[in-house]
Amino acid sequence: MKATQTELRLARRMSRLGTETAFEVLVKARALEAKGRDIVHLEIGEPDFDTPANIIEAATDALHKGWTHYGPSAGLPTLREAIADDVSKSRRVKVAPEEVVVVPGGKPIIFFTIMALVEEGDEVIYPNPGFPIYESMINFLGAKAVPIPLREERDFVLDVNELKSLINDHTKLIIINSPQNPTGGVMSKGDIGDLADAIGDRDIFVLSDEIYSRLIFEGEHHSLMTVDGWKDRVILLDGFSKTYAMTGWRLGYGVMRADLATHISRLMTNSNSCTASFTQVAGAAGLRGDQSSVTRMCQEFKRRRDVFYDRVNKIKGFSCKRPKGAFYMFPNITKTGWQSKKLADALLEDAGVAALSGTAFGAFGEGYLRFSVANSIENINQALDRVEQWANKNL
Ligand SMILES: Cc1ncc(COP(=O)(O)O)c(C=O)c1O
Repeated sequence: MKATQTELRLARRMSRLGTETAFEVLVKARALEAKGRDIVHLEIGEPDFDTPANIIEAATDALHKGWTHYGPSAGLPTLREAIADDVSKSRRVKVAPEEVVVVPGGKPIIFFTIMALVEEGDEVIYPNPGFPIYESMINFLGAKAVPIPLREERDFVLDVNELKSLINDHTKLIIINSPQNPTGGVMSKGDIGDLADAIGDRDIFVLSDEIYSRLIFEGEHHSLMTVDGWKDRVILLDGFSKTYAMTGWRLGYGVMRADLATHISRLMTNSNSCTASFTQVAGAAGLRGDQSSVTRMCQEFKRRRDVFYDRVNKIKGFSCKRPKGAFYMFPNITKTGWQSKKLADALLEDAGVAALSGTAFGAFGEGYLRFSVANSIENINQALDRVEQWANKNL
């Protein structure tokens, strides 16, 4: 009998799964490069630095010593201890190793937290514009995604009165992110206190995405976990990708009350078994070792931010706030008269500059573009020369 092609009938939930546009723009930019075009890449959100040498050495050493086997789903004790010590110090709250779950990158903590805590039909409030995976995962898991707009006039920090108006009996989880992708907005100590007051003693958990916690240009990082009485209501997401330029290693973690940690570990057992062992050994060395490379990287991002800020505000149609953290610039482009996605496409195709449309981060990103400054000053200047020429010619 002749074999027939089986029709691909995907599960309905797959139609609710979103994506991260940065990866798509990268593919498009690479296709243009393959045709001989010169493109400056300011689309992707990863440090352009190498992983610090002490971490690479610890990883190769771990491989030679046989750290090539399965480990516990929640992470190797040595790394869970190192993370607990580090978070205890940085968030000024006592964290135990049992409250840490190590995962492959920060991203799984988003998926696992929503999967473990949120029922279909529950509501999850999330920042918009914001990291697109929040909205994607909320929708995918059948919950209701409730955006809280982040506005430029508030330096892209959420308005707690608006948050209060969105909270109701169905609200199960609130996601916050500071320093923020894509806006570079940073919540102050006062903002965090106001947020805690606004949520009050309602039965709501907060997923606090602090993956850019070490990339702060002014002042200090503040976490909801530090606020008195909040530790057990917060799931903290952090990791090694941005801090130690380890995006490709896939090493991140969540910090949460120990009873929830056991369930998140069960999700790890079911999905990944465990995070790669030698990368965990290297991660522990990173946390315990010399931190000067983190300081240097942060200073360099700040220098680039300032170069970008000074120049972009002189370009016709563009105006930009000075972000306080992370490594993104989020200029307002409404005065160009162009829609964000069309402008991002035109800059890529006509000017050879890859940036992302603000709408890649949700509907409230309309009117903005995101440029990553994880590139050399030389390339940033070249990108801005091109954008300026394009604006002078087309606007
Ligand atoms: C806000 C935010 N959270 C989480 C992540 C995921 O980080 P990782 O690469 O460690 O999974 C990113 C990566 O871009 C991010 O911007």
